[in-house]
Amino acid sequence: MAKLIDGKAIAAEIRREIAADTEKFKKENGYAPGLAVVIVGEDPASQVYVRNKHRACEEVGFYSRGYELPADTDEKTLLALIDELNGDDSIHGILVQLPLPRHLDEEKILLAIDPKKDVDAFHPYNVGRIMIGNYDFLPCTPAGVMALLERSGVTIEGKECVVVGRSNIVGKPQALLLLEKNGTVTVCHSRTKNLREVCRRADILVAAIGKPEFFDSSYIKEGAVVIDVGMNRRPADGKLCGDVDFASVEPIASAITPVPGGVGPMTITMLMKNTFTAAKKQGAKV
Ligand code: GUN
Repeated sequence: MAKLIDGKAIAAEIRREIAADTEKFKKENGYAPGLAVVIVGEDPASQVYVRNKHRACEEVGFYSRGYELPADTDEKTLLALIDELNGDDSIHGILVQLPLPRHLDEEKILLAIDPKKDVDAFHPYNVGRIMIGNYDFLPCTPAGVMALLERSGVTIEGKECVVVGRSNIVGKPQALLLLEKNGTVTVCHSRTKNLREVCRRADILVAAIGKPEFFDSSYIKEGAVVIDVGMNRRPADGKLCGDVDFASVEPIASAITPVPGGVGPMTITMLMKNTFTAAKKQGAKV
């Protein structure tokens, strides 16, 4: 039976640490770290994420400000808002919730965010810094996975790490971070041949493909650590589920994250960490 990696508990622990640091920060500086969250349109999932981000800010003692723009907002208006936030001293982190409506050029919008305030770490400047291992911010989901591994006592050095998924937000940075910790890293994707065989080599498997309960025990080596980044609806009953078939994998893994309650709670926690770092880097005394 696998050890359950409790993301909810680990996230709560890290948030308590950030809250304590924030209290000190506020005493030293007379202001709080500030996060601006911009959402364009009314995607219900995005609205839930944004609400949770504000709630997390409140929990750790940050200042947060939300901007809810209509779905037909034009590029010029959004760029003007970002420009204003770039110059706003009370805002240290700027997050533009994705996906954006189709008529907006995501790359252009993300490029407009001052890299010092880019708490998602999506700006090419920050992506480049991650590539060379000299970074201030990490993208929240892979950073959350690393924190889960670290706080669960999983060593990465020398291990076979298999990342399934190659998105700019999760798979690619995840592979770099595991490599930085001296893992032997393989990245798999939709065109990978013999996916099952490659996954069965993994001491640490990170599943991030967005397919409900895709990975059953036939993909898993006995004793592997299984991290499930998936956040899907199970077709049969509409319940939240991951990319891993938990019931099938749990008996043979040595450790596994549940969905919900695994990687999910860590993501927003890492956003809080990045916002704190941003505030420090922008001249605060700490
Ligand atoms: N949409 C889904 N996940 C994310 C995220 O981590 N950051 C942003 N900005 N948008 C998202």
